[in-house]
Order: sequence, then C-alpha cells, then structure tokens
Amino acid sequence: MRNQKKKKKKLKATAMASNYLRNLNRIIHDRFQPLLNGTRFFSDGASSFPQPQPKPKQPPSPLSSSLNVNELAKFAAIADTWWDSEGPFKPLHLMNPTRLAFIRSALCRHFKKDPYSAKPLEGLKIVDVGCGGGILSEPLARLGATVTGLDAVEKNIKIAQLHAGLDPVTSNIEFCCTTAEKLVEEGRKFDAVMALEVIEHVAEPAEFCKSLAALTVPNGATLISTINRSMRAYATAIVAAEYILRWLPRGTHQWSSFLTPEELVLILQRAGIHVEEMAGFVYNPVTGRWSLSDDISVNFITLGTKSNNTE
Ligand SMILES: C[S@@+](CC[C@H](N)C(=O)[O-])C[C@H]1O[C@@H](n2cnc3c(N)ncnc32)[C@H](O)[C@@H]1O
Repeated sequence: MRNQKKKKKKLKATAMASNYLRNLNRIIHDRFQPLLNGTRFFSDGASSFPQPQPKPKQPPSPLSSSLNVNELAKFAAIADTWWDSEGPFKPLHLMNPTRLAFIRSALCRHFKKDPYSAKPLEGLKIVDVGCGGGILSEPLARLGATVTGLDAVEKNIKIAQLHAGLDPVTSNIEFCCTTAEKLVEEGRKFDAVMALEVIEHVAEPAEFCKSLAALTVPNGATLISTINRSMRAYATAIVAAEYILRWLPRGTHQWSSFLTPEELVLILQRAGIHVEEMAGFVYNPVTGRWSLSDDISVNFITLGTKSNNTE
C-alpha cells in the first residue's frame, strides 16, 4: 500500500516535470527561433552535416578617409594664388627645381632610364597626390610622364586644369578632385605614386600610406616629401617661414603633425613599401636657393619601392 502511494507520487512528479520541460521548450522555440533562421543544427541530419569549409577570402577593409577638413579649408582659402611665385606657395616654387632633380634621378635609377634624355620619364604612369595647382604635375608631364593629378580641393583642381591647358604639352594631364583612397577603390595603379608636402596635412598618415602603396604597381616607386618633427623645423618652417618672413599664412603647419624620417620609414614599411633613397632639402638664405643634401633635419624626401610579391 505504502509502495503504491510512493509509485503514484513518482509518476505525478514525472508528469509535472515533463509538462514543465515541454512548456519551456515551446517558450524557447518561439522566442529564439527567428534568430536562428537558416542555421543548420547537428540534429537536422548528422550524416549530411557540412564539413568545415576553408574561410572565404575577406574583402580588404575599406581605407579610412585621409581628409582633414580644417587643413583643406586652409588650402581652399588661398587656391587662387597657386601660380603666384611671390605668394604663399613661394617656398614650393623655389623648391621645385631641387625636388625635380631628386625625382628625375631617383626614378631614372629605379626604372633604368636615361636621365639625360629629353623625356626621361617617358612611358611612366605617375599620380601626383595632393597636386594643388599642379606645380609639380606640369614639369613631370614635360619630362615625358603620363600624369594624373588629384586633390581634395575642387578650386585647386580648377586652377590646375586652367593653367595646364595653356601649354599643349601639359594639357593632357588628367586632373581630378578626389582622394587616394577613392582611386584605390576604383582599382587604379601607377608606376610611381608621389605625395609631396601632403602627408603633414592628412587625417591618418599611416592609412594614407596604405592607400599610396595600394596605388603603386609591384616594383613601382612611392615618393613622399615632408617636414621633420625636429626643433630646427619648428624654428625654420614655422617660426621663420610663417611669423618672421611671412612666406606662409600663420597656422599653415602644425608641428605635431610632422613625422620624423624614422616614423615615415616605419609606416611605409608597414604599408609594404621599402624606403631605398632619402635626401634632405636645404635652403640657403643668402642665395635664396634650395639644394639637395644629406641633412634631413628639416625638409626631406623618400623614395620607396613596393616589393614584387606585395599585392
Ligand atoms: C602643401 S600642398 C602641396 C601641393 C603639391 N603636392 C606640391 O608639393 O606642390 C598640400 C596639398 O594637399 C592637398 N590635400 C590635403 N589633404 C589631402 C587629401 N587627404 N587628399 C588629397 N589632397 C589633399 C591640399 O588641398 C593641398 O593642395
């Protein structure tokens, strides 16, 4: 009798427990099933359960924007002075022959071309990133290169197009208002990619270098010029050029945005570019001329190459 009572109690408890579990299952199913739609479970058919597949190749993560709106506003404000050799871009006009001497000889060495021929850069596709009014793009075209100039400031591009259109040799330069990262998205490639005096004005220098690298063909060349974050640069490129000589509007450069040569080499290396050549630009206040030098304490330029197997 006692045993029968015990059995009944046990059966009742089992029935209650299975009822409880059934209800719980239904609640879980109703709540979570929508989240699991399309998910295949092991119990759906163990024999046909798919074997682990190799992970699909992830698309490259989008490059972040290099645009720094405050910096761009400074250039937009003085865009109509690009070709005034006594205006705010005077230092770039004065520096142009010296930096072209470096570019010409370094590119000819790299691409095994004759630097003494009339058109030593003939056959090379070059992009001039942050071209401004085109004061570098034009002589590159005269040296025989096929040039694309890009700048994020629309006014700069308009000035560049107007000026280049005055000479049939430079009138076929392709000028676009865009960014390096947009050209990467479009899948554009160039033998030589150059960004002269631009990196100190962009939002993310390391990401910017990745875009420059992505635009460069394997075995191609990437050239960057900028200002060293040194005390000498603070004294000359900011205090003297902006406050004493008034060559540039005050606030053109932020000392903290400058990169040291070591930092530039490192971020280029991380982008797959190996720096092979470096030179300094030195200004002689007596002659008013710039010359190439081993002194990289203020202005410097690098040429890096993208290795063959980096894609
Ligand atoms: C100091 S100027 C140098 C112009 C030219 N590279 C030269 O050396 O003669 C810097 C130029 O970079 C452009 N710039 C700045 N940030 C940029 C970016 N993220 N993408 C494209 N152009 C940019 C500015 O509009 C400006 O024309």
